[in-house]
Amino acid sequence: MKLSTATKAPRHATGWTVLAAALATAFASATLQAEEITLDAYGRALHVRADVMNGQRQFQRCKACHGPDGHGSGDGLVPAIAAQQFRVIVWQLIDYGQNKRWDVRMQSMVSGHDALSVQDIVDVAAFVSDLPPVAGGNTGNGQYAAHGADLFRRSCARCHGADAQGDDMQRTPKLAGQSYGYLLRQMHDAVEGRRPNFPPSHIRRLKSLEWNDLQGVADYLSRLPP
Ligand code: HEC
Ligand code: HEC
Repeated sequence: MKLSTATKAPRHATGWTVLAAALATAFASATLQAEEITLDAYGRALHVRADVMNGQRQFQRCKACHGPDGHGSGDGLVPAIAAQQFRVIVWQLIDYGQNKRWDVRMQSMVSGHDALSVQDIVDVAAFVSDLPPVAGGNTGNGQYAAHGADLFRRSCARCHGADAQGDDMQRTPKLAGQSYGYLLRQMHDAVEGRRPNFPPSHIRRLKSLEWNDLQGVADYLSRLPP
């Protein structure tokens, strides 16, 4: 398998995380057959002109999990993707294809016999990023939401934006209106070493937070207008 370093367990990993990482890698390698998403995919994606009609066709495959309007599953398991930043979508899809982000369902979209090509990825990202924004529909219980708002303004807004709208050029995701359960899980996965594409500095930032901080910031974000 390519890029085995990306799947190396972190030094601090507990037995449990090592096992989880090994399982995720085993799943990933079983599905990573097609070599369409090669390392130069990031560079190639920048030079592809988006065909939104094809993007709309490809989106039919996403609806089963992300919903017909891209709001996700509503239970916090599948994220809202409608109106996510274009480059964020492109990069995350390629990351799944490069085994830098682990999820069997998403990795099966970008590997195997009917995998999306780089052109398809750019096309579907163009279509999805232009969908009307819609919230993930899953929030926390409100207990730490005000504390989360304060924390977000102090530590996160300078990259994710004052309204958590994200930044296309910096490939920083929009977080506003994202589902609570999903946000919490991503931050937890990043800290536990289960999301290899997360920048190490970002992992350190999240690691320095308490569980109440993470719950609060996820709750606050999930309540923002998408
Ligand atoms: C079988 C269910 C399923 C299908 C089909 C599916 N997804 Fe996903 N998608 C998921 C799940 C679950 C996650 C969260 C995975 C994780 O935790 O990394 C996800 C995550 C994503 C993310 C990352 C979002 C973020 O904020 O980082 C993007 C982008 C995405 N999907 C786009 C798509 C597109 C585009 C399609 C269609 C081509 C698609 N998905 C098809 C289930 C699915
Ligand atoms: C220095 C810039 C920067 C700062 C500060 C920052 N982030 Fe991020 N964040 C990013 C980038 C870039 C990504 C995308 C990482 C990737 O490629 O997977 C990201 C990803 C995320 C994700 C995953 C979103 C998804 O759709 O899967 C969450 C959640 C998140 N950040 C929360 C936070 C929180 C909470 C804070 C403040 C405590 C914060 N970030 C501070 C740049 C930043």
